[in-house]
Amino acid sequence: MNMLDAMETRRSTRSFDGSRLTGAEAAAIEAVLRGAANEPAPFGRPVRLALYVGEPDAKPVRLGTYGLVSGASAYIVSAVAPVPGSMEDAGYVLEKAVLDLTAQGWATCWIGGVFSRGKAAQIAATAPGELVPAVIAVGRPAGRRSVADRIVTGSAKRRTRQSLDQIVFSADGERPIDGERPAGAWAEALQALRGAPSASNKQPWRLVSFGSGPSWLIFMDEDRLYNHSLGEVRLQNLDIGIGMRHFAEAARCLGLPGRWEPLPARRAELSSALAFGEARGWTPIALWRR
Ligand SMILES: Cc1cc2nc3c(=O)[nH]c(=O)nc-3n(C[C@H](O)[C@H](O)[C@H](O)COP(=O)(O)O)c2cc1C
Repeated sequence: MNMLDAMETRRSTRSFDGSRLTGAEAAAIEAVLRGAANEPAPFGRPVRLALYVGEPDAKPVRLGTYGLVSGASAYIVSAVAPVPGSMEDAGYVLEKAVLDLTAQGWATCWIGGVFSRGKAAQIAATAPGELVPAVIAVGRPAGRRSVADRIVTGSAKRRTRQSLDQIVFSADGERPIDGERPAGAWAEALQALRGAPSASNKQPWRLVSFGSGPSWLIFMDEDRLYNHSLGEVRLQNLDIGIGMRHFAEAARCLGLPGRWEPLPARRAELSSALAFGEARGWTPIALWRR
């Protein structure tokens, strides 16, 4: 399965079959985590990943998700320092692990809200000041979904997505994804981003294209109260990193040029795109260019 297929296939799964990982399965997942953590992320922040497979003989593997997630075989725990760009990089790195695991046949769910942050911090052996932004439940789907799962998944339009023209714009006011315009070739990468998971499915990504190439600025359309409800952990900044990962993987599969980088100090060439987003109250995060 290539990354485009993995992005298409991935769904949040909250009811797993409760099986324990074999040694070989745990080793394969550890290898995925090492691969994801060792690849440089756009802001160059180290993201540590640890695999929690539960206590010996204790079933099932629990991480304080209070019945929302049942029967997971393992959890991936992430840890980062609270510095600019670390939430985006954590999203970017963890989503690589999610997609690689999806390609290997695993089901997953991002958990950023309710889990035991204390226990997760112990598992990741966090240094003072380090944060656990989110964890990922991993396992095989259960035959039947739990009641809690059906309630959560049924509520808040969990799987629907905004249309592309609600998240993609052009600094010159043209529609960037119409027909034969250069950006038309980017429609598939934009669709991959649109399908990314996000906290409470809020989909805060906004992309503005500019210049030839084209280049893209990614902004966060922040729900301020929501994004500041967990102290230094910012779920919507994680979302932006996740969306950046989907876009980058799709671009790579499709042979489209460029990469994500932090916003440059000299911003003259970005001024029209920046003005477009800032007029709408969005926060600029990163730049995609050749
Ligand atoms: C950063 C982040 C945090 C999330 N936290 C939770 C959570 O705490 N509980 C939960 O059930 N789902 C959580 N989700 C899953 C989202 O609800 C889900 O991705 C979204 O509804 C879209 O559905 P899909 O993943 O099936 O495409 C989280 C997703 C992200 C990206």
